[in-house]
Amino acid sequence: MDLGSEIRRVGDAVDQLFQHYLADRGDGRDHLFAAMRHAAIGGGKRLRPLLTVASARLFGVDEARAIRAGAAIEAIHVYSLIHDDLPCMDDDDLRRGKPTVHKAYGEAAAVLAGDSFHAIAFEIMAEAATHEDPFVRSELVLELARASGPDGMAGGQMLDLAAEGQQSDLAAVTRLQQLKTGALIEYAVEAGTIMGRLPEEGRTRYRGYARNIGLAFQIADDLIDHAGDEAAAGKRVGKDAAAGKATFVSVLGEERARAQAGILVDQAIEHLHDHGAEADLLRAIARFAINRDR
Ligand code: IPE
Ligand code: IPE
Ligand code: MG
Ligand code: MG
Ligand code: MG
Repeated sequence: MDLGSEIRRVGDAVDQLFQHYLADRGDGRDHLFAAMRHAAIGGGKRLRPLLTVASARLFGVDEARAIRAGAAIEAIHVYSLIHDDLPCMDDDDLRRGKPTVHKAYGEAAAVLAGDSFHAIAFEIMAEAATHEDPFVRSELVLELARASGPDGMAGGQMLDLAAEGQQSDLAAVTRLQQLKTGALIEYAVEAGTIMGRLPEEGRTRYRGYARNIGLAFQIADDLIDHAGDEAAAGKRVGKDAAAGKATFVSVLGEERARAQAGILVDQAIEHLHDHGAEADLLRAIARFAINRDR
């Protein structure tokens, strides 16, 4: 199992799906489609689709279907990044090594590109090609909605903005990060268990794995902002402290945040101890979540 080649393979498949959904229509909307392709194609680590593929693999789910579910989750993620970069939020000009969508295409197109990715995510998830069983598709859609909305990503983004310049403790930062980043990452793993029709009682350990990865991943993101390299990261660094963001680094300091991320990854891998080589991709993703410069 080679993580690099798995990332490339899943990334190429996600790119192809987006090419299909984001083709020009030959009218005034083509500015919107260009903005969306700019945001979604040929960039990003594709961690969330990879998690869905890795989790679905444990239960013998057809990989092309898992990739469709993963692409739907990536569509929510891309929407969240486009809006996260807007002047009214983090006000960033660089994303995935390119100008942010509002810088390259204007604010109106950026808002609409986010709106459109939000809708396309549910379109991809609800289509029969994603799963043959409509009950499974319905659960996929329900849980994606929960992970994306006010009790998930969007709510976490509100907490992130509300905490700017405030005194936050570890419990508050953990909750904020669990929602803004953790919820969608947890769902990416859960989607594989839903597609594999794993009964509720069998899902606990995968939820434990995903919760640990979600937090570790955001700690690594905070560390990249704190001490990372802009060219490698493909986005501006040093902005969290300047904005007074509540992060694991601001609460724990760099060293303890780094140690905490390591502990979380060890715990994530421990949740998989009953599995053999079939869980190696999940293990490799766990290590990658914190050993990265972008
Ligand atoms: C960045 O996500 C924002 C967070 C939720 C931490 P990623 O680090 O997954 O960004 P891409 O998809 O690789 O660009
Ligand atoms: C963004 O967190 C999380 C979401 C987009 C939901 P950050 O604001 O830390 O992400 P970056 O650092 O801009 O990628
Ligand atoms: Mg942000
Ligand atoms: Mg940001
Ligand atoms: Mg960040």
